[in-house]
This record gives sequence, C-alpha cells and structure tokens, in this order.
Amino acid sequence: MTEQSPVTEQAAQPVKAKPALPDAQTVTEVKHYTDRLFSFRCTRPASLRFRSGEFVMIGLMGDPDPKTGKQKPLLRAYSIASPSWDEELEFYSIKVQDGPLTSKLQHIQPGDELILRPKPVGTLVHDALLPGKRLWFFATGTGFAPFASLLREPQTYEDYDEVVITHTCREAGELTYGRDLIEGLKDDELLNEVIGEGFWKKIKYYPTTTREESAKMGRITDLMRTGEAFSDLGVPELNPTTDRAMICGNLAFNLELKEMLEAYGLEEGANSKPAHYVVEKAFLD
Ligand code: A2P
Repeated sequence: MTEQSPVTEQAAQPVKAKPALPDAQTVTEVKHYTDRLFSFRCTRPASLRFRSGEFVMIGLMGDPDPKTGKQKPLLRAYSIASPSWDEELEFYSIKVQDGPLTSKLQHIQPGDELILRPKPVGTLVHDALLPGKRLWFFATGTGFAPFASLLREPQTYEDYDEVVITHTCREAGELTYGRDLIEGLKDDELLNEVIGEGFWKKIKYYPTTTREESAKMGRITDLMRTGEAFSDLGVPELNPTTDRAMICGNLAFNLELKEMLEAYGLEEGANSKPAHYVVEKAFLD
C-alpha cells in the first residue's frame, strides 16, 4: 500500500518509546529489499479471522498533541500478505522517506509493537468471483501483497487450472519479494502436501520492469495491447467465459487495466454480486 490518504496528519514516534498500544501486536521479523521496499511479520490476534486477499488498518501511535498531550493512532490500509491459515501476519510495504507513517515504520525491529485494527475487509477475495478456468493477478509495486496471500491460499489452486501473476515494477530489485515467494512455493512441504504435490506448476509468473533493464521490459498494459504478454505466456487473450482477474496497483494502473478488462467483456464483481474481475479499493477511499 502507498501513503496516499493519511488518517491523521500527525507524525509517528518510534514504537520502542511507547507504552503498550491499543490493539498492539509484536513484530517478529523484518526484511529489507530495496531502499523503497520492506516486509515484516507480526503476531496475529487470536480473534482475527480473514479471507486471503483482504486488508486491515495498521500503524503506530502519532506524536502527542502539543496542547492536550493526547496521542492518536496513525493508521494506513495494508493488505495482509500472509494467507488466512498462517499463525502470523505478514505485510509488504513501501518506504516513503517523508511519509508520516512509513518514515517511522521502516525502522521497526523484532520485539517492537505496532497497532493492528482486527477488522479485515476487501474486494480481492475468491468469494467475489464466479467460477472460471484461469485466474489472473495483476500487480504493480507493493500491489503484490494481496497476491502473496492468495498465492499461498489452497482455494486458489482448487478453483483454477491456471494462475497467472503479472508484476510490473520500476526496478529489478523491486521484483525480489515476489520472485522469492513464488520460487519458495516449489519447496514448501506443507503447501505441496495440503494442496497437492506440484500445485505450483499451475502458476505462470510474468515479472516486468519499466525503468531498469530486466529479462522483460515494459508496462503489462502495453504488453497486453501488443499481444506480446499473451504470446510470451502461451495463453489466449482474456475472455469472460474462462478468465477471472484481480487488480492491485497504483491508481492509474488500476483504472487503465479495469478499462482493458471491460473491453475484453469482463464485468466487475463484488462480495454481494460475484462476477469476472475485482479491483483493490483501499487506494480509492
Ligand atoms: P512507469 O515506470 O512507466 O511509470 P509506481 O512505483 O509509480 O507505483 O509504479 C509501479 C509500476 O507501475 C511502474 O513500473 C510503473 O511504470 C507502472 N505503472 C504506473 N502507471 C501504470 C499504468 N497506468 N499502467 C501500467 N503500469 C503502470
């Protein structure tokens, strides 16, 4: 998720200096990928049930108000990157150097506390899609997060014959989190046992970069328009009979891809009315 819509304008303080927070969870692991990206894991509240692909509000306490001394939580919507069966929670975040939350959040360490409101919501869930043959995950940047959850969710492979994941980033290093996760599925004994040996063979992974050289350059939207993405992947263009899709990226990407999917004849679904594709709404609120 990005830092696009602050819940409060206050700056956050380092978590270590804080007393126990409301809805506090403890950080268990932090991994840095680039100067713009990191992931972290934390404890999961016993009461938290969610569907793979949903998001929650997480954050830190803001600075005390100079007049009243009161502190307010500084929260953002974060997709849960771990699957619904995982004992812990995982998140994948951007680092914005002057961002009210992530300028502080990027310094968290195992043992620190963060705030997690245990009210999961979201549109990127299997329930919002009609049955289909091929499921497309379209991500840019940290928009990979909900798919990190869904790629480890057994239902993804029970419901579909093929799972295509496209990930467009500016630089090659920004693909590392997703690539490592997908590579790791091959050796994941638990998932191979639960879902079925070799389940990962259903995945077609299509990473592209736009501002640094890599094996495949270009925006996924452009690569689809020229047909290159489909010939590279060895799959036909999307159609509403066989294909289902989930979109999670920056706002311009979400809107552009939504238009393209509509042109292929796919209709937008919702929890209350399942259809052919869904778009992450956390950015639009
Ligand atoms: P580009 O470098 O051509 O802008 P960001 O880090 O700004 O959120 O962007 C993540 C990736 O999404 C970048 O590779 C960026 O490409 C790409 N992107 C941005 N807008 C669109 C769009 N409308 N359609 C497809 N890709 C996009």
